[in-house]
Amino acid sequence: MPPQLQNGLNFSAKVIQGTLDSLPQVVRAFVENSVRLCQPDHIHICDGSEGENQQLLDQMEGEGMIRKLRKLSNCWLALTDPRDVARIESKTVIVTQEQRDTVPVPKTGLSQLGRWMSEEDFEKAFKARFPGCMKGRTMYVIPFSMGPLGSPLSKIGVELTDSPYVVTSMRIMTRMGTAVLEALGDGEFVKCLHSVGCPLPLKKPLVNNWPCNPELTLIAHLPDRREIISFGSGYGGNSLLGKKCFALRMASRLAKEEGWLAEHMLILGITNPKGQKKYFAAAFPSACGKTNLAMMNPSLPGWKIECVGDDIAWMKFDQQGNLRAINPENGFFGVAPGTSVKTNPNAIKTIQKNTIFTNVAETSDGDIYWEGIDQPLAPGIKITSWKNKEWTPQDGEPCAHPNSRFCTPASQCPIIDPAWESPEGVPIEGIIFGGRRPAGVPLVYEAASWQHGVFVGAAMRSEATAAAEHQGKVIMHDPFAMRPFFGYNFGRYLAHWLSMAQRPGAKLPKIFHVNWFRKDKDGRFLWPGFGENSRVLEWMFNRISGEAGAKITPIGLIPEEGALNLTGLGDIDTEELFHISKEFWEKEAEDIQQYLEEQVNADLPAGIEREVLALKQRVSQM
Ligand code: GDP
Ligand code: PGA
Ligand code: MN
Repeated sequence: MPPQLQNGLNFSAKVIQGTLDSLPQVVRAFVENSVRLCQPDHIHICDGSEGENQQLLDQMEGEGMIRKLRKLSNCWLALTDPRDVARIESKTVIVTQEQRDTVPVPKTGLSQLGRWMSEEDFEKAFKARFPGCMKGRTMYVIPFSMGPLGSPLSKIGVELTDSPYVVTSMRIMTRMGTAVLEALGDGEFVKCLHSVGCPLPLKKPLVNNWPCNPELTLIAHLPDRREIISFGSGYGGNSLLGKKCFALRMASRLAKEEGWLAEHMLILGITNPKGQKKYFAAAFPSACGKTNLAMMNPSLPGWKIECVGDDIAWMKFDQQGNLRAINPENGFFGVAPGTSVKTNPNAIKTIQKNTIFTNVAETSDGDIYWEGIDQPLAPGIKITSWKNKEWTPQDGEPCAHPNSRFCTPASQCPIIDPAWESPEGVPIEGIIFGGRRPAGVPLVYEAASWQHGVFVGAAMRSEATAAAEHQGKVIMHDPFAMRPFFGYNFGRYLAHWLSMAQRPGAKLPKIFHVNWFRKDKDGRFLWPGFGENSRVLEWMFNRISGEAGAKITPIGLIPEEGALNLTGLGDIDTEELFHISKEFWEKEAEDIQQYLEEQVNADLPAGIEREVLALKQRVSQM
């Protein structure tokens, strides 16, 4: 009998773990259709067990895709093909029937608020990529939950992938395995299909044993069909589809339909010396300090910070009017360079075991290494760079890729919040926006109202980082730190945020803006950052409880003289740190207005238009 008829399913793939019978009918149909299309040799239904995980890690080690870090416990290093090192925004699209459902139609040129692809173009692109794309490989079936299993705020997805690296990473980043299928039953789930796009036998040899297909990379979202389809990249947000693709792009669209918010925000709990606790959510663009703030070791005596999440928040007002937030993730995918015992001791403790590192450097005794790790090297120890070459500081290139990452279980964080998996979420009392602004933007200011705060989010700008493919350090508009992650038209997103103020009984959080990255004339940071950021959190905490003074400025409220605790900090140029220059803000307000009018155009809500005019007015009277 021909192999494709053996199981009566019209395909010949052999199930090597689990059984198709054990899958809910809806999942089974998704798997079978995808198998017919992608034609893998094998199917592996992930149970999420430790045994399965170890088997996959050993297999990848055998294939030379990862290596074990001898100095640490169950820690692994993957070095990618140098063409596959970051999210690719230029190849990330949202497919809707109408362009305007994805992006506002700009006055001129292309939208900078996301990329739309027509259904016809997507069909063509899909057919040019997926048929036979998993030949010779195993298709892994990953059932995963974003959010604690069983929380009313959680959502389920199933990712099909031909990358075992994705499986072991998804096991860290999400709740994954058999229990998810049981919770799903015949319910709804987001269909995620991922292929590295390198069927066997290979047409070209792999670089670093890292399969990928940069020429054909495409990351597509079909919100109407609840589908995410990703091809060609094995790294980060391109391939761990629960993260930016599901928990931000897909979820923001679901949130708009269902009346909640899916945001690029860390969540932290902060307790003052009196034992009072508040939760904050903070949105900074990729590689602008979320993980560090979320896990911070406060320098202020008596204060405690606890981490709920470092990247994404799903938030919904409850019956009592509290804005409840969950972290949909189960791990941290954090920037490695700059992480040290001094800057982020809690991250250093978290990553000592069960962690997958990607594109960091390795020491000759099997430890990790990167720029800013701040660890002296023992005599005789050599370094191998992320390019898998012997490296010395004289090489003039970094030893770790600037977007190299650790992928590590959240439960290992020594300051994980006791409520981090609470099904009802934690109550958010403050929302913080921020970015990398070398000039002009003060350390902290507070918005005068919810509407003003939404405008502050819309007006966010930040220096480009290595988290995506942008070159150089240009200042980019990055509203709500969501520019690469909006799942629908940003104008409608703004209207959705503004509408929160109309919810009966909603206790609207106070909104702040911070900038840890202002520089002096010699290019040095004016603010020490990291644990010292607790001083800014203290002021915000006390603003919320009505115990800290503020001074009105044209851009918002800043700490009044003496309200920001600077005790023990040494020499800080607070004058410069808080300086608000008329010249700078005239240009800033003008740029923001132009950007919003050009880019959001007909979809710009009147409330936001009013705020930009009011800002210009206040600045002109300085
Ligand atoms: P995320 O991608 O938003 O989570 O950002 P991370 O917290 O991983 O930080 C990205 C980079 O910014 C790392 O190299 C950090 O060391 C650096 N960083 C984070 N917080 C601060 C800060 O307060 N001050 C300064 N100067 N750098 C920071
Ligand atoms: P982060 O996330 O830099 O916001 O932590 C990863 C990414 O941008 O892909
Ligand atoms: Mn991060």
